[in-house]
Amino acid sequence: MSAVPERFQQPETFAFTQENLKRAKTIIAKYPPGRQASAVLPLLDLAQRQHEGWLPRAAIEHVAKLLEMTPIHVFEVATFYTMLNLEPVGRFHVEVCTNLPCWLRGSDEIVGTCRKKLGIDIGETTEDGLFTLAEVECQGACVNAPMVKIGDDFYEDLTPEATEEILEELRAGGRPKPGSRIGRRSSEPVGGLTTLTAKPDTKPAAKTAGKAEKSGGAS
Ligand code: FES
Repeated sequence: MSAVPERFQQPETFAFTQENLKRAKTIIAKYPPGRQASAVLPLLDLAQRQHEGWLPRAAIEHVAKLLEMTPIHVFEVATFYTMLNLEPVGRFHVEVCTNLPCWLRGSDEIVGTCRKKLGIDIGETTEDGLFTLAEVECQGACVNAPMVKIGDDFYEDLTPEATEEILEELRAGGRPKPGSRIGRRSSEPVGGLTTLTAKPDTKPAAKTAGKAEKSGGAS
């Protein structure tokens, strides 16, 4: 019997399902002939989604073949981007941003809360296979820092309490509402709007229209 847990084992083969193959061909067709390699990232993402959130070697080779690239070139791409996982991850991949703006807004506390609540460290997966904890660089949501990405969802303006609630809801089978946890829409200022707060004044436009009419009549 192998010492490697089953979920970590590399499958011998990988192929896109018919549906995903159709999607892959649509993606490839967006690029000019001879430039199929530009489709490498979306195809790796598609393969990862098909294979329970991680990319086995066989999937990398499959994508390489479809794009007429060498497997090592595709492997280089797969190892560069943190959103591509070369090992299995839990059902919920909890990616805590600890880059500067998030750190200044308390990401250390968010990491600490995740560690304590899940009982795992960065890079580990809970025994039930539900959660994997990761530390990542900027996710492009600095204005709503601190934030955590879980799957395709961003959870922003986090506090330790809000983070606990999110993890509890996920464990209970729910889907916490993504976005700001303090109720602001998108990246509006925390204290409410600061510009464009007055209603648009339509009078000047009406005056201009009047003038135009007069000048039109005189000519
Ligand atoms: S620094 Fe955390 S989202 Fe940019």
